[in-house]
Amino acid sequence: MDKLVIRGGKSLSGEIRASGAKNSALPIIASALLSSENVIIRNLPHLQDITTMINLLGTMGVEPVVNEDLSVELDSNLLKSVVAPYELVKTMRASILVLGPLLAKNGYAEVSLPGGCAIGSRPVDLHIRGLEAMGAEVVVEDGYIKAKTDGRLKGGNVFFDTVTVTGTENIMMAATLADGVTSIENAAREPEVVDLAECLIAMGAKIEGHGTDLIRVTGVEKLHGCDYSVVPDRIETGTYLVAAAATGGKVKVKDTRPDILDAVLVKLEEAGAKIETGDDWISLDMEGRTLKAVSVKTAPYPAFPTDMQAQFVALNAVAEGTSTVIETIFENRFMHVQEMMRMGADISVEGNTAIVRGLTELHPAPVMATDLRASASLVIAGLVAKGGETVIDRIYHIDRGYECIEEKLQLLGADISRLPE
Ligand code: EPZ
Repeated sequence: MDKLVIRGGKSLSGEIRASGAKNSALPIIASALLSSENVIIRNLPHLQDITTMINLLGTMGVEPVVNEDLSVELDSNLLKSVVAPYELVKTMRASILVLGPLLAKNGYAEVSLPGGCAIGSRPVDLHIRGLEAMGAEVVVEDGYIKAKTDGRLKGGNVFFDTVTVTGTENIMMAATLADGVTSIENAAREPEVVDLAECLIAMGAKIEGHGTDLIRVTGVEKLHGCDYSVVPDRIETGTYLVAAAATGGKVKVKDTRPDILDAVLVKLEEAGAKIETGDDWISLDMEGRTLKAVSVKTAPYPAFPTDMQAQFVALNAVAEGTSTVIETIFENRFMHVQEMMRMGADISVEGNTAIVRGLTELHPAPVMATDLRASASLVIAGLVAKGGETVIDRIYHIDRGYECIEEKLQLLGADISRLPE
């Protein structure tokens, strides 16, 4: 397994560009299964998870065409199977996103139950209940979700008692081809949900309210093709800004969207950073100021994103003062804490709260990545730790969500390299 080797202690400075958003690209690739014509998707990040989703469509017969400009073309008329096999689904939970489109377009779908993952059990009961509210018959047997509908799905009223991002996306996609109007109450408001809705609208779907907690979809008979570019990745952007703040640097992220990162930018300013923004860029400059610890509490968008929680634990570990980091979305998303404590961080976890006592510095150590965002937080800790090498193992977790992380950090002056095993 590849490792990352980081010699920390240098302030990051320079400019990088954000890649397309992983969590927008994944549902948008799945949405190609709804269309009766070719769909072209641009600005896809080159990540393991994107490859997995494209391979998943490939195993069902929808072979991708990658154009010279690296856009991906998908034609769901090539579909040969409506089964999403365990071998692929077990490697990426987001595979559940093909369930709604396959069912809505073909009247039947078999998708392996995605196992839990490191950060929590992550059930999909809300996805299933939503499809049942639209007239689907769903059984779970032999580890597979088997859903069918006689004729088209029916428009229905779906209420999510827990805000679910991919649950909202699955139901919204299924509703585009249903007979009638579907309302989704307590819908997720994440920018990636909005991006998917805009892509579906480009295919001819009738969707209103995306970005609010009440989405209304009026079903149509069929969707045509589209040529759509994925929104920039706000979590990747936020991760590099936190790395810049933690190392006392000055970094500009281009090709990004400042308007979908408010909760994070506010916290970075509270930590002492000077933030400037333009239409498609964000710059952060610590201007030599001491980093101040900031308390955060995760919650659904537009509140502070759970996908930035681990990164802020790393920031707080080297900031001045004591802070609390409260995780309200997932039940086990503090695995980075143990690893950071190996680097000397002073953190205690009580239930869903991490209490972080800031230090002047961390020291290098061998650590292990456990999940995608935890890995990113260990990279940040490694960039700060002076006087040796931090070696991060199992970095396949990182490659799922951060395109060319060592190249982008090298562009910013970091001493980081990949050690192929
Ligand atoms: C999406 O996961 C993201 N993944 C996650 O990003 C992100 O952390 C999460 O939303 C929260 O923002 C993608 O978009 C591909 P949820 P998702 O359904 O949709 C419970 C990353 O690092 N729940 O919004 O799987 C669930 O257990 C990844 O890029 C049910 O109980 O998350 C959790 O506690 C990690 N039943 C809460 O809802 C269900 O049927 C929110 O989960 C579905 C969810």
